[in-house]
Amino acid sequence: MARIVVVGSINMDLVTTVGRRPEPGETVAGESFALVPGGKGANQAIAAQRAGAEVEFVGAVGTDLFADDLARNLGDAQVDTARLRCLPGPSGIAAIVVDGGGENTIIVVGGANARMTELTAADIDAIAHADILLCQLEIPVDTVAAAARHAHDHGTTVLLNPSPVREVPPALWAQVDIAVVNEGEAEQLGSALAAVPHVITTLGGDGAKYRGPHGETHSHPGVPVQVVDTTGAGDTFTGALAAHWHEGPETALAWACTAGALATTTLGASASIPTYEHIERALTR
Ligand code: RIB
Repeated sequence: MARIVVVGSINMDLVTTVGRRPEPGETVAGESFALVPGGKGANQAIAAQRAGAEVEFVGAVGTDLFADDLARNLGDAQVDTARLRCLPGPSGIAAIVVDGGGENTIIVVGGANARMTELTAADIDAIAHADILLCQLEIPVDTVAAAARHAHDHGTTVLLNPSPVREVPPALWAQVDIAVVNEGEAEQLGSALAAVPHVITTLGGDGAKYRGPHGETHSHPGVPVQVVDTTGAGDTFTGALAAHWHEGPETALAWACTAGALATTTLGASASIPTYEHIERALTR
């Protein structure tokens, strides 16, 4: 079983569904509203745990009314929250609109995630004893870079999902062993990805492709499902990939594509992450 430490974000998602998005200046009637725990870091932590890994989460909630629910949701998913801190001020939130086609738009306000600027000795110890450090870019890049440096120094594999895309210092890229990107991110990052030994590009409904350190490639086709909401599908893909990376890229890709597809069949990010049994059943069909 893989031991994974996620250093990343945790948000409360404010999810509105609507048949059609409003044009600028227009008001339309929404269909539903729900508060669903999310955040790329927390989603990936839960996805990795459900896909069979043992996961510790390093991140921050605020001191507002969302903090307890966010912490409880991670704990309920059996993710180790001993290193989840509570920083004064608001928690991170994401305002998400899901349209009738299942496509989403997301506005993230960082809150406590943006104040996640320090790693403690206990965080570094957890990273040192993990098989994989899993990071995204919803917390300060300097914190991600520090976590990756400690991981690299201790022989822990660094998996970066550089989302949302922003400038990443070359020193951080140099520590990354595995990158998971979507097609848009791959295009924006361009040559920066060339330095990463293992690159996985997700292709939406068409599955994913892998490029290894010697230029070897492998593809996994899309898994046909009825799409309700794509929010968190990439996170579910990445968490499942991390959980099964030790079985080799081909097996990891199969788990990731299947888990990611299943995550699109239900509304909400963390609420839609499939269990181990659910993924395994779909894999053997
Ligand atoms: O990737 C989906 C996630 O992005 C949502 O849960 C939201 O919180 C944003 O961080």
